[in-house]
Amino acid sequence: MGGSQDKPQLIIDGKRTDGRAPGELRPIKIEAGVVKNAKGSAYLEWGNNKVLAAVYGPKEAQPKHIADPNKAIIKCRYQMAPFSSLEEHNRSGPNRRAIEISKVTKEVFENVILLDDFPGCEIDVFVEVLQSDGGTRAAGITAAAVAVASSGIPMRDIPYAVSAGKAGDSILLDLNKLEDNYSDADMPVAIAPREGEILLLQMDGNLTKEQTIQALDMIKKAGETIVKIQRDALEAKYR
Ligand code: CDP
Repeated sequence: MGGSQDKPQLIIDGKRTDGRAPGELRPIKIEAGVVKNAKGSAYLEWGNNKVLAAVYGPKEAQPKHIADPNKAIIKCRYQMAPFSSLEEHNRSGPNRRAIEISKVTKEVFENVILLDDFPGCEIDVFVEVLQSDGGTRAAGITAAAVAVASSGIPMRDIPYAVSAGKAGDSILLDLNKLEDNYSDADMPVAIAPREGEILLLQMDGNLTKEQTIQALDMIKKAGETIVKIQRDALEAKYR
């Protein structure tokens, strides 16, 4: 989101700047099992985003004092590669944004992985953004979900994430960077699809109650497509 004076028009004749309809997703491709040494992994392209996710563990939690004797802990690192956008990244450790996205991603997986099965252990989830164009936290969660599923670590559901936002009076699904920069609101959401349970909901900007419901409906409808792409990737690897 941004408050630029020279705000570009995001909808012209009912179409978005990249030709999509308001409720349309960008094209998504996922391949599971792409990192040889990882327990589970996935490579995802989502519009112009390119994301690699890898999962290691469960293994003994290190250092020992962070271990929980009753359940596994999750460590999560979301990172944008230095060459992933025109902005500078990664020169001196994670910035505040990367720390925030790592934290919310970790919380999504804490709610779906069966942590009680692995007391004293850690599970490491890495999300590397190789190319970015808006919506990378959603793309990262969606890819990491396939990576965890492909690792065999038990989960009660395979989550997905996508954002919806608002430009003028229009509710838009899956904002790209231009739309994200100039929209009036952006709401990334992660969902456990089996029960439609919301695992993450962030909000940058303002939506009315009706707009929030409309955006959530769009996100749940998009979930049908995203979940199928996740499952197809897993089936293609393990068929
Ligand atoms: O990627 P996501 O939409 O989850 O997060 P954001 O903070 O809303 O960022 C939107 C987009 O701006 C990112 O996807 C990147 O393309 C770009 N961005 C960047 O390149 N460097 C930053 N430090 C922040 C954002």
